Amino acid sequence: MSTVTRESLPRILSGVQSSGKLHIGNYFGAIKQHIERQDKGDCFFFIADYHAMTTLKEAEEKEVAAAAKNKQLTPRPAREILRDNVSDVAIDYLALGLDPAKVAFFRQSDVPEVCELAWVLSTVSGMGLLERAHSYKDKVAKGFTPSVGLFTYPILMAADILIYRSHLVPVGRDQEQHLEMTRDIAGSFNHAFGEVFPLPEAVFNEAAIVPGTDGQKMSKSYGNTIDIFAEGKALERAVMGIVTDKTPLEAPLDPDTCNVFALYKLFASPPEQEELAAKYRAGGFGYGAAKKTLLAKIDAYFAPARERRKLLERNPGLVEEALTAGAQRARAVAQVTVRLVRERLGLNQRPV
Ligand code: ADP
Ligand code: TRP
Repeated sequence: MSTVTRESLPRILSGVQSSGKLHIGNYFGAIKQHIERQDKGDCFFFIADYHAMTTLKEAEEKEVAAAAKNKQLTPRPAREILRDNVSDVAIDYLALGLDPAKVAFFRQSDVPEVCELAWVLSTVSGMGLLERAHSYKDKVAKGFTPSVGLFTYPILMAADILIYRSHLVPVGRDQEQHLEMTRDIAGSFNHAFGEVFPLPEAVFNEAAIVPGTDGQKMSKSYGNTIDIFAEGKALERAVMGIVTDKTPLEAPLDPDTCNVFALYKLFASPPEQEELAAKYRAGGFGYGAAKKTLLAKIDAYFAPARERRKLLERNPGLVEEALTAGAQRARAVAQVTVRLVRERLGLNQRPV
């Protein structure tokens, strides 16, 4: 009988940028799939703190602006923002069910070899390839003052993927071009120096776009989020603030065009969805009651994760332990790849 070892499964890798509080759009669009995959492959998940540095100046400016509005806030310096965001994302993932015994879960910056590989890859990547990057062009259009790091972001991302010789990369559709660039860059290296990197494949999650409280795509940048770990008054405020139409209380409601119902569907079983849809259609059931039903559902759905989060917050040592163990596993793999790359390049080879 053959045993399946973790190493014989496809290597699945993904990275999350540490840039603020996670919302239920992030959960249903990305995090849930990451966590579900932990039993399906040899998983490497990391917190992209080197990448988060490319937008740190803007994060700092946002804090200063928020503090100017609310005198009780003190803006944190950049290094604290970076550190707190990494630790928040780590705690969030662990609380939501990521098991560090199954997954190598680590900070990107704990594997500095990735910067060496990024340099090597930059020497086989054309300027034209980077100049076509949508994410860079979008950020510049939004008024970001670009650094060289923002421009070469896709090369570091290619290094993240290739250093672990990953096969599958689960990401949102917005990352499609970055994955194409990674395959291009891997192909150029392999062509010049011999096969080292498997060409990784993107796995797009087909989860529907989660609507925000105003009906647009839920996004940090639109201020329409319901945070995964919101509770009490804050959660109530967000849910009760969901925008609905002005149908009078007695009239039937249409579940198919209602934001409250669209969100409820993410949390409820099919019979529960049917039950609420029937109440909508029967009339005499207002949006206020629908929102309360949704509020109770969200509250109950994330309650166990919230408890785990509180426990982890009180035990930062546990989080650090998980990240350190993950980094050790990841670094061992990364070092083997970098050694092979150096060999192929003839770096560090003393003449005999
Ligand atoms: P935000 O728009 O809030 O800044 P990010 O761009 O950081 O979110 O997204 C992180 C991950 O969450 C990506 O994989 C993205 O596809 C997913 N995601 C973000 N918002 C949504 C949403 N409203 N619906 C579904 N998935 C989403
Ligand atoms: N660019 C990705 C995002 O914004 C984050 C990321 C960095 C990543 N490196 C990666 C994702 C490697 C997958 C693989 O979501």
